[in-house]
Parts: sequence; structure tokens; C-alpha cells
Amino acid sequence: MKILVLNGSPKREKSDTLHLTNAFLTGMKDFAEQEVHILHVIDRHIEPCMGCFSCKRGGGKCIHGDDMRKILEEILSSDLLIFSFPLYCYGMPAPLKNLLDRTMPLSTLAMERVDGRYEHTAQADFSHLRYVMISGCGFPDGENNFRAMCLQFQMMFPNNTTMLTVPEAPMFNAPEAEPVTKPFLELVRQAGREYAETREISKETMQKLSVPMIPEEQYAAICNQTQ
Ligand SMILES: Cc1cc2nc3c(=O)[nH]c(=O)nc-3n(C[C@H](O)[C@H](O)[C@H](O)COP(=O)(O)O)c2cc1C
Repeated sequence: MKILVLNGSPKREKSDTLHLTNAFLTGMKDFAEQEVHILHVIDRHIEPCMGCFSCKRGGGKCIHGDDMRKILEEILSSDLLIFSFPLYCYGMPAPLKNLLDRTMPLSTLAMERVDGRYEHTAQADFSHLRYVMISGCGFPDGENNFRAMCLQFQMMFPNNTTMLTVPEAPMFNAPEAEPVTKPFLELVRQAGREYAETREISKETMQKLSVPMIPEEQYAAICNQTQ
């Protein structure tokens, strides 16, 4: 499978979240060989969308001649997009959102009703794409923290979508937390294996992944001690 990882963490390789994504990819590779490209979004020259809609009229060309042209080609030639990013203000980091805004050329201005809501009509074929979101956040209590982000992702990518959200993510870069992060990353690896085989993560594995690595209060207390 051709996999494009859009790493939205400005920390690049040092991203807490990337530990999760790498474990997921290792699991996918356990099942079968995969072609993976990790793109650090922060390093790409991507101008903000000007909202002119030139790209949606007559041929779909953006007014900006920056790195996004090549990124769009790479997106379309991939089988799977993995969005790997930290939660920022209950959403995705601005550079990654900026990249998503610039996917406007993939559809026209025309709109159609699909499954009870409106979508722009595609002008490129991205129907083969699958989408995985892997996101870590700094607070405990993943359910409440990720609510808006999960809703947004589901709205943007209603089909072929899998989401893995993990609170207490700074622990992945804390060597002293290894007794709890290692088994968790093994579970994520299992999730990757399952995804490569079945295109989804089993309910059992999802259930295990929803259990915090350490109790919320303990995590908050440790964070507060280290201030
Ligand atoms: C600008 C900014 C906004 C953040 N907003 C949130 C937030 O809304 N909720 C949360 O739980 N953590 C928030 N965090 C913490 C990060 O999600 C957390 O540190 C994460 O582990 C960083 O992941 P990374 O190393 O992959 O970039 C924020 C951090 C920054 C720098």
C-alpha cells in the first residue's frame, strides 16, 4: 500500500504523536510490505488559500505555484493518508489545516447532496483514498478533548475513515514512562496490523486503546509536580 503520512506536528521527528504513528506503521508492515512517505508539513512552502475559487473553475489550477502542487499529486497517487498531529486548541495545528484548505482544487464549485448533506463535486478522482487520523493531546480525558476534532474529521472524510486519539501523549517522549507507554505502543502496533489486514481496527483493540495509560488524576498530579 502507498501511504502518505502528513505529520502536522511542528516538532517533526520529535513529535509525541509520531511514536503512535510509527507503531501503527510497524504493525501495518508486520502484515505486509508498505511504501511509506512521512511528510513534515511544517517544512513545506504552502501559501494560505485566498478563497478566490480560481481552482474550482475551468481546469482546477490554484493561483499559488508553491509546494502544494506536488503534494496534491502525491495525495492522489497514495492509497492511504495518515494524518498524524497533536491536538491544538481542540483542533489540528494551523499548518496542517492550511494544507487541507489547499485541497480545494480537488473539487468544483458545483454541489450535490450525498448521504443527507452537501458536498462539492469532485474534479479529481480521490474515491480510492482511505484516511486515518492519529492524534495525541496533552490533557487527560481524551473523550472530551477530542470531541470537536473527531467530528470535524468525520465531516471532512465521511467514508473510509479510522480515528485513533490518545490523551497523555507527552508521556511518549518521557523515558521514565516506558513501563506504561511500551505496552500501549504494542497495542497501537496491533491496531496497525489489523488495519492493514481488514481496513479497520477491531472493537476489542479500540476498547483497550481507550483505557488511559495512567489514571487521569495521577497524570495531572505528575504534570503539576513538574511545573
Ligand atoms: C498551541 C498548542 C495548543 C494545544 N492545545 C491543546 C488542546 O487543546 N488540548 C490538549 O489536550 N492539548 C493541547 N496541547 C498540547 C499538545 O497536544 C501536546 O503537547 C502533544 O503531546 C504534542 O504532540 P506532538 O509532540 O506530537 O506535537 C496544545 C499544545 C500547543 C503547543
